[in-house]
Amino acid sequence: MCGIVGYIGEKDSKEILLKGLERLEYRGYDSAGIAVRNGDGITVFKEKGRIADLRGAVNGDVTGNTGIGHTRWATHGKPSQVNAHPHQNTSDRFTIVHNGVIENYHHLQRDYLADVEMESDTDTEIIVQLIGKFVEGEGMTTQDAFSKALKLMKGSYAIALLDAEEAQTIFVAKNKSPLLVGLGEDFNVVASDAMAMLQVTDQFVELMDKEIVIVRKNSVEILTLEGEKVEREPFTAEIDMSDIDKGTYPHYMLKEIDEQPAVMRKIIQAYQGEDEKLTIQPEILDALQEADRLYIIAAGTSYHAGLIGKEYLEKMAGIPVEVHVASEFGYNMPLLSEKPLFIFISQSGETADSRQVLVRIKELGHPSLTITNVAGSTLSREADHTLLLYAGPEIAVASTKAYTAQLAVLAILAAVTAEARGRDLGFDLVQEMGIVANAIQAQVDMKEEIEKLAHDFLSTTRNCFFIGRLMDYFVGLEGALKLKEISYIQAEGFAGGELKHGTIALIEEGTPVIALATQESVNLNIRGNVKEVAARGANTMIISMEGLSEDGDSHVLPTVHELLTPLVSVIPLQLISYYAALHRDCDVDKPRNLAKSVTVE
Ligand code: F6R
Repeated sequence: MCGIVGYIGEKDSKEILLKGLERLEYRGYDSAGIAVRNGDGITVFKEKGRIADLRGAVNGDVTGNTGIGHTRWATHGKPSQVNAHPHQNTSDRFTIVHNGVIENYHHLQRDYLADVEMESDTDTEIIVQLIGKFVEGEGMTTQDAFSKALKLMKGSYAIALLDAEEAQTIFVAKNKSPLLVGLGEDFNVVASDAMAMLQVTDQFVELMDKEIVIVRKNSVEILTLEGEKVEREPFTAEIDMSDIDKGTYPHYMLKEIDEQPAVMRKIIQAYQGEDEKLTIQPEILDALQEADRLYIIAAGTSYHAGLIGKEYLEKMAGIPVEVHVASEFGYNMPLLSEKPLFIFISQSGETADSRQVLVRIKELGHPSLTITNVAGSTLSREADHTLLLYAGPEIAVASTKAYTAQLAVLAILAAVTAEARGRDLGFDLVQEMGIVANAIQAQVDMKEEIEKLAHDFLSTTRNCFFIGRLMDYFVGLEGALKLKEISYIQAEGFAGGELKHGTIALIEEGTPVIALATQESVNLNIRGNVKEVAARGANTMIISMEGLSEDGDSHVLPTVHELLTPLVSVIPLQLISYYAALHRDCDVDKPRNLAKSVTVE
């Protein structure tokens, strides 16, 4: 959700900022802007639309070796040039970019800025006008004014601020939203995500909530809001540039779908000990052993992974599990067991809905584990324990490889816990995961066949239903989410047996219904459900597993262990969504209205 960059050094900052914004575009893409400090003051370029539109609007003649930039996903105020960042105060002395939401902006406006005419509809402009007022009206220094504004603000923010009269400084602060300072020789940079600035440095300093940071060309000074100095060592961002390049792929989503067999192998290796047995940190095992119930908290695709995770943890490890949508749980907590352990599943590790639950349960003194793709992310830092996904950066907005990585890590967590509890799984997970990796490979190698299915079933439809039973139902939910988010076809997932209780009324001549049939105990039942909708005119597609398949099935998956079928059955659904979106000329990697990491509640 929104991305920030900044540069201060000796080079012209424009290109570095624009490149950085291109790398952050996945975070939000309804408008973008940069501000460059030059001899004449601060020049702002901003544009509704993509970074490519911003590029077109930037005047190459304006140069400046200090600058800040922003890519926006609208929260307050519709996407427009006026609401795009950077924002300036009335005198144009101060310029700001902001990621997050200022919850008390109405109060701040009423109490401090009643006489100031606002140019935009954003909460961000309030911050820069406040700082201007404190400096120009009350004679404060910029640093003091910034601190004062930060102390008054409630909500989430990552901010970079320029003062036209203090050319050699970028002022930076954050609360709940991620922000890093990157270190270089004779320059320093600011970024919401290390990826944005890997082109210039791999050395980063993590910023903490409620700090104020003074970034200059040759120094980075971290202070508390009370002005006390903080020392912090930089870390090396271990991201391979090839991981964040599309290479020859037309879209990141297709690249990330294709990476899944390799991700499976990487995860197995990462969780194998010296004796090649699967292992997880003993403290995490202890936490699971001590818990009488696990509460999985997540959103979107990660929530769908959590539904399968419950199956793994209950069936393999024998621990009761509840799975909750993060945005609901925080405001309507169920009765908790005596010894709960909270498991947060989040690709980005930044989802605000999940974080607000983490904050609540920490206040209640409950232990927590985050399963995330991003080491050092907020949820990882703030939880007691972390398990990493090792999926590599996921850049397409629609999650694919992170989902299968989440399933794999949940399976490993369940299997290792099962062993610690003396439960016999009856199968070797490492071996079965190897079979899964090969089965995924076989699916991604069948793109042409799957593209044809997408074309035959979805080329003209407005809607589509996914049905399944048991774990197939949960995979169907994920298939429906994938299809709707990138192709804009209205898609819903249902438990096969549930259709006849209402939804079957929507079935008309030609309505596509995609059914998964990988679960032996309900194979005949789901086939019965398919017949029910076919009898009412539905255009049905059955994706089954070898051994359970019947003549006429549209697509047959290789056999894998029944518990691990979701890892394989989701692949054709990801590809069907991809091709359906492609055939409709949709922006596959950056679907409308969405952002990759959702850092607002
Ligand atoms: C869908 C998708 C989203 C995310 C959700 C949670 O393809 O990507 O539904 O799964 O916003 O994000 P994380 O996993 O980063 O917490």
